[in-house]
Amino acid sequence: MHSRRVGVIVSGSLVGGLEMKLDEWYSVEDIRAGKFVVIEGEKSRFFCMVTDVRLDTTNPQVLADPPDEEEDLMRQVLHGTTTYGTVCLRPLLMTDKDDAPTAQANEPHLVKTIPIHFSVVCEAEEEDVNRIFGSEEYGARYFHIGRPLDMETPICIDLEGFIERSNGVFGKTGTGKTFLTRLVLAGLIHKDRAVNLIFDMHSEYGWQATQESGSGRRGFVKGLKQLFGSKVAIFTLDPESARRRGVQSDFAVKIPYNQIMVEDIAALADELNLHPTAVESSYLIVNRHGRDWLSVLLHQDPKDIKDFADEIGAHPESISALHRKLKRLEKFDFLQEKVVEDAVYKIMEYIDKGVHIVLEFGQQSSFLCYMLVANILTRRIHDLYVQKSERYLASGRPQDKPKQLIITIEEAHKFLNPMAARQTIFGTIAREMRKYFVSLLIIDQRPSSIDDEIMSQVGTRITSLLSDEKDIAAVLTGVSNASWLRSVLASLDSKQQALLMGHAVPMPVVIRTRDYDGVFYSAMGHVEGEELAQKAHANIADLFGDR
Ligand SMILES: Nc1ncnc2c1ncn2[C@@H]1O[C@H](COP(=O)(O)OP(=O)(O)OP(=O)(O)O)[C@@H](O)[C@H]1O
Ligand SMILES: [Mg+2]
Repeated sequence: MHSRRVGVIVSGSLVGGLEMKLDEWYSVEDIRAGKFVVIEGEKSRFFCMVTDVRLDTTNPQVLADPPDEEEDLMRQVLHGTTTYGTVCLRPLLMTDKDDAPTAQANEPHLVKTIPIHFSVVCEAEEEDVNRIFGSEEYGARYFHIGRPLDMETPICIDLEGFIERSNGVFGKTGTGKTFLTRLVLAGLIHKDRAVNLIFDMHSEYGWQATQESGSGRRGFVKGLKQLFGSKVAIFTLDPESARRRGVQSDFAVKIPYNQIMVEDIAALADELNLHPTAVESSYLIVNRHGRDWLSVLLHQDPKDIKDFADEIGAHPESISALHRKLKRLEKFDFLQEKVVEDAVYKIMEYIDKGVHIVLEFGQQSSFLCYMLVANILTRRIHDLYVQKSERYLASGRPQDKPKQLIITIEEAHKFLNPMAARQTIFGTIAREMRKYFVSLLIIDQRPSSIDDEIMSQVGTRITSLLSDEKDIAAVLTGVSNASWLRSVLASLDSKQQALLMGHAVPMPVVIRTRDYDGVFYSAMGHVEGEELAQKAHANIADLFGDR
């Protein structure tokens, strides 16, 4: 039997949720939206989330004439009898009551009924949490991501369920998206569930990242490379910046102009302020010059533009605009006429060996650069994955099975807004689910800007505080009967709290995010003082034989 009683069920419905009268010894102020409680029904137990709290009275007269501040005794007399708290609950899962709590047969299932009148409501216990969310002790598929609002028992996500789809981490700025993402990535790496490719716009995942402390001071936390050594490789677009920050990168990414396609430029139309006709005329250059189109264009002298336009049959104005705007690309050092080593093959080589890749942007952290590079690399990696998957489908041999790849992108709406989602490779990946063993982990503070169809494909949503109604509605896209979750989302703390819902958890739940600290590092197998990072280079070189 449960130790701490919270109240009794007094009314409710399957569709609208339940109402509980709060016990008089329980303070309304201790009940928070998102709290996890259990109802002991007659035949079943119901696992519920608190969605709302309200003050009620049996006698409206009292409200017309409230007791004075000094009338403490009067307040106490009224409290719990005439005045009381009502708590709204949303039952989310139920189990049959008779079975032993550990019996496999008694799996929690969806709620199809409601408990009888005056069923007792209790605080959830460790056993309940483990039973629903699993426990790291049950196997490597479970990863401890946080704790319930007012309990110390870990809440786990099911990594198997997680990698089955594309997933998202949402929340306002500063709510802990990057920390949560780093946590989840560490879980995936530690438990070896998928290979990750992370487009690390602000260089926060690979090597150390800054952590703001309460007093405004800054500390540092370890990046994935520091935690996992040779399991993680750092690729960089800005070797200078890496060197300055003392990061030993494994590979400097260079991209030849002839890998940039018109589609990549079209995806940057907003950033480059390009008119659709300018994009159209790029195709005319491609018709004449093929893969060298961009080099040819950039090499034109402005005064020869008119002749060039005539030659390819384009409008001089639009070629001139295109020329002027694409000139901006020339300032990126990583774009070169010819490169010695193809970054995409390099990435694939690492992925095939199960090494996770963090691509740091260093000082090149403009949207323009981020989107350009993420698009080019992902498009080609996806092509290679499609080939690999088809080979596997044809042969059926286990050794041909591609490793599940998860691509992490920040500011995902830039890639997945309704316009871009139709054009960019990221839209394709999100829509085709994991047919080709590639899925996305998208991070965004403006989920309302992401295409609806894409949002509804996002399997697991980890959402921190959002205040904009549109953003709240967006993360609830495709969740039926979700209005009650709005109040829960809007009442999260501004840091380190999140609502989990979707494939990786059997029911929506609010967590306090696990601390990303020394305790976590050790749980990930990191040994303080052991210079993993130094060894990491040697180890990665070993993996590839000669280097
Ligand atoms: N799990 C955690 N463990 C420790 N500290 C955390 C955790 N989550 C959040 N924080 C604190 O909150 C701060 C902000 O977190 P984070 O950088 O992840 O926010 P964000 O949502 O990614 O913000 P932005 O939108 O600006 O990128 C961190 O610097 C850190 O101090
Ligand atoms: Mg961030």
